[in-house]
Amino acid sequence: MPVITNINDLKRIYERRTPRMFYDYCESGSWTEQTFRENTSDFDKLYLRQRVAIDMAGRSTATQMIGQDVSMPVALAPVGLTGMQNADGEIKAARAAEKFGVPFTLSTMSICSIEDVAENTEKPFWMQVYTLKDDDFMQRLFDRAKAANCSAAVITVDLQLLGQRHKDLKNGLSAPPKLTVKSVANMMTKVQWGLGMLGTKRRFFGNIVGHAKGVEDASSLTTWTSEAFDQSLDWDRIRAFRKMWDGPLIIKGIIDARDAIEALNVGADAIIVSNHGGRQLDGALSSIRALPAIMDAVGDKIEVHLDSGIRSGQDVLKAMAMGAKGTYIGRAFVYGLGAMGEAGVTKALEVIHKELDVSMALCGKTDIKDVNRDILMIPKGFEGDWQT
Ligand SMILES: Cc1cc2nc3c(=O)[nH]c(=O)nc-3n(C[C@H](O)[C@H](O)[C@H](O)COP(=O)(O)O)c2cc1C
Repeated sequence: MPVITNINDLKRIYERRTPRMFYDYCESGSWTEQTFRENTSDFDKLYLRQRVAIDMAGRSTATQMIGQDVSMPVALAPVGLTGMQNADGEIKAARAAEKFGVPFTLSTMSICSIEDVAENTEKPFWMQVYTLKDDDFMQRLFDRAKAANCSAAVITVDLQLLGQRHKDLKNGLSAPPKLTVKSVANMMTKVQWGLGMLGTKRRFFGNIVGHAKGVEDASSLTTWTSEAFDQSLDWDRIRAFRKMWDGPLIIKGIIDARDAIEALNVGADAIIVSNHGGRQLDGALSSIRALPAIMDAVGDKIEVHLDSGIRSGQDVLKAMAMGAKGTYIGRAFVYGLGAMGEAGVTKALEVIHKELDVSMALCGKTDIKDVNRDILMIPKGFEGDWQT
C-alpha cells in the first residue's frame, strides 16, 4: 500500500483509478467554480493559536452530534452516485463510518438503496432526503428510512433546481454510464473499477428505480429526475415534510442567517451551513465565511453543523472553534473510496482524526468539547462588511 499521509494523496490515487466522468462529477463546482474554490481557500485565511507547556495527555475528540455519540465531530455527507465511484460504494463507506464511530448519511440519489445499506451494516445511519414534488414518494422515503432504523433524516433545501456543472454535460454523465467510444476507452484503463462494477448488480439509483411511480429503468429515470424536484418549494412545504418524519431532523443547505431562523422555526434539531460543496449557487459565500453570522443569529438556539471545503483535521478544528457542533466531509471520503474502497474511506477518516487530535493538542486543548474561539485568529473583515 502506498504511504498515505493526507487527503490529497488519496485524491491522486482516486483520479488514476476512476473513470473520468465520475472523477469530474465529484471534482466540480457549478459555473465558474468560484465558491467551490473559496470553500477550501477561505479555511487557509484562518489561523490557529499555538500554545505550549500545557498538559496534552489524555485527549479526546469524542462528542455528540444531535445527541448521538461520535468518535469525532465529522460525519460523512450525502453524496449521490457514490456507488459509481467504487462498486457498492455506499455500503463500503457506511461500513467504514460505523467502524470509526461517525455517522454516515445516505443520499436520496445513491446507487445502493436504503434497504441495501441497512442489510449490510450494523448501526443506524442517517438518511438524506431531497425536496421532491411527489408526496407519496416522499412519505414512502421517510417510511423506508424509519423501517431501516435510520437515526436521523437530513432534508436538503438548496437543490430545487440544479447548478450547472459544465464537465457533467460534456462527459454525458449518467448511471450506469452511457457507452460511447470515449467513455469505453477511458473505462478500459480503470481495471479495478471495471472488475468491481462487473461483480455487482447495483448500478442504478437504488432508492428510486422500482420505487417512484413509472420509473422502472434508466431512460424513465432521466425523465423523472428532470421533473421530480420541486421548484415551488417553500417553508410551509418543509414544515409538511417535518410532519412526515418524527425522528431527529437536520436541515442542510443554509448559508444565510434569515434561512437559519426559518429552519429553526420548522422545528429542526440541527442545521448544516452548506453551499452543497460549491455545486449550486456559484458566487455564494464559502460556508466557513457564512458561519459567524449564522452562529450570531441561531447559535444559542439550535445545533449548527458545517460542510463544504473540509479537507483536513485543521479545517474541522477551525469550524468547531467558530462554534459548529459538527462537520461533514463529502469529497474527502469519496477520494478515499475511489482510491481504495472501504479501506480508503477508513484512511480518510484516520488522516482527519490524527490531524484534528494533534492540532487540538498544539492549541493547548485536550477535549474537543472545550474548543472555542480562543484558539482561532480570524482576520478583520473575514465575514465581510457588505453594503446593504
Ligand atoms: C459528487 C457529489 C455528490 C453530491 N450529492 C449530494 C446529494 O445527493 N445530496 C446532498 O444533499 N448533497 C450532495 N452533495 C453535497 C454534499 O453532501 C456536501 O454538502 C459537500 O460535498 C460538502 O463539500 P465538500 O465536498 O467540499 O466536503 C454532493 C457532493 C458531491 C461532491
